[in-house]
Amino acid sequence: MTEAPNPAPNLQETVAAVGREMDAHRGEGKVADYIPALARVDGNRFGMAVITTSGETAEYGDAWMPFSIQSISKVFTLTMALSRIGESLWGRVGREPSGSRFNSIVQLEAEKGVPRNPFINAGAIVVTDAVLAGRTSAEAIADIRDTLRKLADNETIDVDREVASSEAATGFRNYALANFMRGFDNMHSPVEEVLQTYFHQCSLRITCRQLARAGLFLAKEGQDPLTGERILSPEHARRVNAIMMTCGHYDASGEFAFQVGLPGKSGVGGGILTVVPDKAAVAVWSPGLNEVGNSQVGTLALERLAARMGWSVF
Ligand code: DON
Repeated sequence: MTEAPNPAPNLQETVAAVGREMDAHRGEGKVADYIPALARVDGNRFGMAVITTSGETAEYGDAWMPFSIQSISKVFTLTMALSRIGESLWGRVGREPSGSRFNSIVQLEAEKGVPRNPFINAGAIVVTDAVLAGRTSAEAIADIRDTLRKLADNETIDVDREVASSEAATGFRNYALANFMRGFDNMHSPVEEVLQTYFHQCSLRITCRQLARAGLFLAKEGQDPLTGERILSPEHARRVNAIMMTCGHYDASGEFAFQVGLPGKSGVGGGILTVVPDKAAVAVWSPGLNEVGNSQVGTLALERLAARMGWSVF
């Protein structure tokens, strides 16, 4: 006698079930306070949004509430830099996991001002320099914002100016990283211009709903499956996903690959964008961070969602 195959998991029911389980965990982790304006966020928030390549959406909790995108912006500036200057970017930034904290400076001297990967702060600042090249920081900031608006299909996405000035007032490590790289000729525009752009990209406010939509092109080899528009070449889209998998959670990237098994990128605002190749994009948000700086409840939600949907790429 043959057993009946397990029915395919239902997306709506699974998102609702995982979301309800997360309600019991709300408030876990520690809200980032090294950027003063971020410390004021309500740590009890939890939101989750999924959008599939065929356009089905499923949401839970605070999926409609804007939060600070922070390091998740690095996925979109990497996309823009690859479109602008292509493979030559890899002469200025590597693609190996760093095994260090996101704002570490220790490897930069030994590696002659070439950061390990585009997602640690040093690497992201180089990527921003590539996005900025040939224009003012105001023009580059508007371009990054407009790119995100277009990808998210939402015109309301904007920079939180208070967070941006809070970052500029306290971003001493980022100033150190950028000046150090300038000393190795790996910073082409003036440090102040590059960092203004970087602080503003990190200060964009976005919802889970918008973020999942904005990342959907990465689930379809660089082509937006809902509009048909090509955002990035298939080769570059594969690279962005590879770097998300290996470097997207800093020194917890191995653990995220082990537990979730999907390309993902976290931010200290408590958001995580995750790509399910050929299937979907998922955004979660919960402001409390674990000791490595990734959303604690957001990570747990993704572990459960990926396991139940059978989404791990491994
Ligand atoms: O530069 C910083 O420190 C922040 N604007 C971004 C850091 C961040 O999100 C790291 N992510 N986990």
